[in-house]
Amino acid sequence: PRVTPFSLPFRVPPVLNPVRSDSTTDYYQITMRKGQAGILPGKSTQVWGYNGISPGPTIKQRKDRQSVVRFINDVGTETSVHLHGMASLPQYDGYAEDLTYPGQYKDYIYPNNRAATLWYHDHAVHETARNVYMGLAGLYIVQDDVELGLPLPKGDYDVPLIIQDKQFGSDGRLIFDDQGEDSQMGDIIVVNGVPWPRMEVANRKYRFRILNGSISRSYKLALSTGDDLVVIGTDAGLMSAPARVKNMRLGMAERYEVIIDFSKYPVGTKIVLQNLGLPNNDDYDGTGQIMRFDVVRRETDDSSIPSTLRYVQPISASSAVRTREFRYERTNGLWVINGKTWDRNRDDANPQVGDVEIWRLYNNSGGWFHPIHLHLIDAQILDRNGKPPFAYEKGWKDVFYVGENESVRVIGKFGPHTGKYMTHCHNSVHEDHDMMGQFQVGQGGA
Ligand code: C2O
Ligand code: CU
Repeated sequence: PRVTPFSLPFRVPPVLNPVRSDSTTDYYQITMRKGQAGILPGKSTQVWGYNGISPGPTIKQRKDRQSVVRFINDVGTETSVHLHGMASLPQYDGYAEDLTYPGQYKDYIYPNNRAATLWYHDHAVHETARNVYMGLAGLYIVQDDVELGLPLPKGDYDVPLIIQDKQFGSDGRLIFDDQGEDSQMGDIIVVNGVPWPRMEVANRKYRFRILNGSISRSYKLALSTGDDLVVIGTDAGLMSAPARVKNMRLGMAERYEVIIDFSKYPVGTKIVLQNLGLPNNDDYDGTGQIMRFDVVRRETDDSSIPSTLRYVQPISASSAVRTREFRYERTNGLWVINGKTWDRNRDDANPQVGDVEIWRLYNNSGGWFHPIHLHLIDAQILDRNGKPPFAYEKGWKDVFYVGENESVRVIGKFGPHTGKYMTHCHNSVHEDHDMMGQFQVGQGGA
């Protein structure tokens, strides 16, 4: 790589202020446009960004206040904005064929009915991988009183980490190359848009909201010290109780909230967040490392990790009214679900509002992993290959890592909205070609 790892300072995306607010609603405006970014030292890189930056600005919202976000398309290609993790009405969910054309805008309404780390990203049909890769992604954090009432690290100690991999030409240009509709993997790991950053930390606890914003790369996270990652939240918010793990898989679009406790390290200690690697990722010299934490100062720490966070009521398998099977396969050079490609006129499931269903997600595509995303609902993992989910997965999730030859059973309740919602692999190259289907809630039948 043309960047020395841990030579560039860490930063976080700016927080977006509303353009106005009233008693119920905050109004935001974001222009999708091309911008110039200094990602590699001495080079300028064009990104396609929300407000021209990548990652885009972070929206921070309180539960049960409404957001209206005007997304103006000045980026020169069709877009559709999906707020991943929000139970939005279908017309505001970023349906892949609900395109906003250059020169147009669309107002999206978000109810903010759960506290979680979400992200917004482009979802234009067949173009999602390229558009997100070029930069159209940003964080959206919803907080509630329960969470803010816990003694967890807050403010400057509550830090987003958006992990992505990129590939650059010698002139600094971003190279999108999907290897014949297979995957887009880069040799340079960026966190919040900075290659292998170095973050200066105090000897205390930090809360990290980790998002894998990569197109096709998954990570196996671990600390170079061998110390624990304390997982407190999954895709859709806090877990019942913290889970201490030595390493964890992070598939595309998954979010985990992790406490790292630097208190035992003397000033001067350097701790690398590593990627131990997972099958079917393209490894390069630098892809085993993500960022480094340098303990540079002493501070008292008034935060703690409570042993109970927010109760996650387990959904019992016996409450399911039906089980569906979804096979993720490679057929005739296409990525398919149950043998089928994307067709906006076909529903793959028609649950009623309130139906609890078990979906068995089965990956028999040979040498690939597929992080499977359901729009609209949060669900829970019942089992993986008949065994309990990993300790860090025991919470509300909307992306399910279905590894090579794995069979994952997930359970969820459909609703509250009716209408059509997508479900797809979040390797966006697979999604674009054509591992995507949809379910329609509330249309009768099954
Ligand atoms: Cu994060 Cu359908 O997407
Ligand atoms: Cu896939």
